[in-house]
Amino acid sequence: MDNLMHRLANQPSDEDWFDPDFVERWLARQHERRGERARQFAMVRSLVPRAADEYFRYIDLGAGDGALDEVLLTRFVNAEATLLDGSPTMIERARARLRPFGQRATVVQGDLTTPAWLETVRGPYDVAVSSISLHNLEDPRLVRELYREIWSVLADGGLFMNLEYLRAPSRALWSYYVQASADPDGWSMPIRGLRDYVGTLDEQLAWLREAGFGPVDCFWKEFRLGIFGGFKGHVHESRS
Ligand SMILES: C[S@@+](CC[C@H](N)C(=O)[O-])C[C@H]1O[C@@H](n2cnc3c(N)ncnc32)[C@H](O)[C@@H]1O
Repeated sequence: MDNLMHRLANQPSDEDWFDPDFVERWLARQHERRGERARQFAMVRSLVPRAADEYFRYIDLGAGDGALDEVLLTRFVNAEATLLDGSPTMIERARARLRPFGQRATVVQGDLTTPAWLETVRGPYDVAVSSISLHNLEDPRLVRELYREIWSVLADGGLFMNLEYLRAPSRALWSYYVQASADPDGWSMPIRGLRDYVGTLDEQLAWLREAGFGPVDCFWKEFRLGIFGGFKGHVHESRS
């Protein structure tokens, strides 16, 4: 885990997921944004192509403290979740949060920048989700490799869905987003600052196709945040 610790502590964004104080501050900020986050998680939940009582298995990559998983496991009462994260503090918090779900939730530590994480999980999964995590990989090559690994761990017809930050196609568009998003009646939150996220929407969809996913699509987007993903081979239709 030394390599993982080094990588997580030295990300270009200065986000140190191995520092318990940083993680606690980050979680407190998410609590302030809970209304907006609840809406985003509800969108992800609605896109899971399964009936509420169906048995299926899913994996959450960079799951953090399991906030999305609490939403999913509450709706999908027979689903089983594997949560993977690199941060010991997040893992501890996720285990505490998901204790009421007993054996339906398994939380493991792993590093998404190397294929070794595949050895810590037990596929195939019917669904893979990720929420504002994979930009932490910073390098498009790592994201593209990870998309191939996710494809390999999904069952036929499986869905990968990524709620993720996107790079604006140009600086001019980014400034335009900043201006427009400042209208509190129109959008869920104003964009502050400029961060060069790892891929534009077009790039992300191309990387998914390159990894083998199809059909792929962006299901929702608000400026620099999107929910996009792809099926493995065909669209799985929900029973109801
Ligand atoms: C912004 S948080 C999002 C957490 C959660 N998905 C959510 O939406 O609340 C990013 C998460 O990605 C994890 N992470 C970052 N880089 C990672 C890596 N290389 N391997 C595994 N997890 C990583 C962090 O530990 C952190 O929990």
